[in-house]
Amino acid sequence: MSLPARPSARRPRLGFLGTGWIGRNRLKALADSGIAEIAAIAEPSPECLREASDLAPEATQVGALEELMQEPLDGIVIATPSALHADQAMTALAHGFAVFCQKPLGRDFAEASAVIQAARTADRLLGVDLSYRYTDAMRRIQPIVSQGGIGRVQAVDLVFHNAYGPDKSWFYDPEQSGGGCVIDLGVHLVDLALWTLGFPEVVKVESHLFAKGEPLPANPSVVEDFALATLTLETGTVVRFACSWRLHAGQDAVISAAFYGSEGGLALTNVDGSFYDFVAGHYRGTSRETIAAPSDDWQGRAVVDWARRLAEGHRYDPQADQYPQVARVLDRIYGRRVR
Ligand SMILES: NC(=O)c1ccc[n+]([C@@H]2O[C@H](COP(=O)([O-])OP(=O)(O)OC[C@H]3O[C@@H](n4cnc5c(N)ncnc54)[C@H](O)[C@@H]3O)[C@@H](O)[C@H]2O)c1
Repeated sequence: MSLPARPSARRPRLGFLGTGWIGRNRLKALADSGIAEIAAIAEPSPECLREASDLAPEATQVGALEELMQEPLDGIVIATPSALHADQAMTALAHGFAVFCQKPLGRDFAEASAVIQAARTADRLLGVDLSYRYTDAMRRIQPIVSQGGIGRVQAVDLVFHNAYGPDKSWFYDPEQSGGGCVIDLGVHLVDLALWTLGFPEVVKVESHLFAKGEPLPANPSVVEDFALATLTLETGTVVRFACSWRLHAGQDAVISAAFYGSEGGLALTNVDGSFYDFVAGHYRGTSRETIAAPSDDWQGRAVVDWARRLAEGHRYDPQADQYPQVARVLDRIYGRRVR
């Protein structure tokens, strides 16, 4: 029983579908923000349900999406394993709920496009947790690049090495995850580059995927744990891309997104191998100005922003049309036929 989309004089009532690691992190961010009411939780694991309920004691506990949709909610936050995202998002949208979905929105372009079509048809607000856009570092970098502050961007260098890799088995099953480090980490990198540059067309993609040191054939039965790719954009800009799980990286994580232009450079880089702390530097020749630095509580900002827009009565936002464009690039990195 969804409520009609409308300007809300009260806090939106939200249901959470999946409260594993990231679901609980986003639930806590929303609860702390006070912007929404955490009204219901659907989670099959008793342990995860208990931990989530500790964060939202007033929330009704239900077993599955079908029961969640019986609750009087404005929106549903999806944080289940990746293979479930597209179907669950489309079901919730078709029943009139706004949706905030974890990345990836779908395992490929076809799935991501189908969700967009469902959101457009239902005219409901759809958000995806492209959380790195909301770091202070990227919030400083993106407007400078888009306003021409570093001149003509000739190159983008994207890196995300997670020296641990996921600790849950479903991430390593291509059916359940849609792929390895590319869809897990690379989705953020490709999104950051295209979003910062205004979503130009990607005209050429070359890639190399590996698992345990071995180059992978087309349509492999295992997921990749290391990927290198070069994307050529219609503007002539060349994007270099590297990501991995369990790389001998010498630190927990190596994360960076650097934009090099004719008049300067801008880069987000992680601090001392941290997954969470970033600096942004504005480079001019050999000089470097720090334009963003820790501490920055960025992780829950995307979901809080979506909830705020929901409270303001927003419906389908055409900016969501961008999400499948990232999925299309990932398909090309995987060498999949893009429909
Ligand atoms: N935006 C980001 O930066 C970011 C970061 C981490 C993870 N993620 C994404 O979030 C998703 C979840 O990742 P995670 O690490 O939290 O995984 P997880 O395995 O810890 O959590 C998934 C949860 O979903 C529950 N679940 C499974 N089937 C369900 C169903 N049918 N209905 C309701 N709940 C169900 C599981 O019991 C589990 O608690 C993944 O798609 C991942 O890619 C995004």
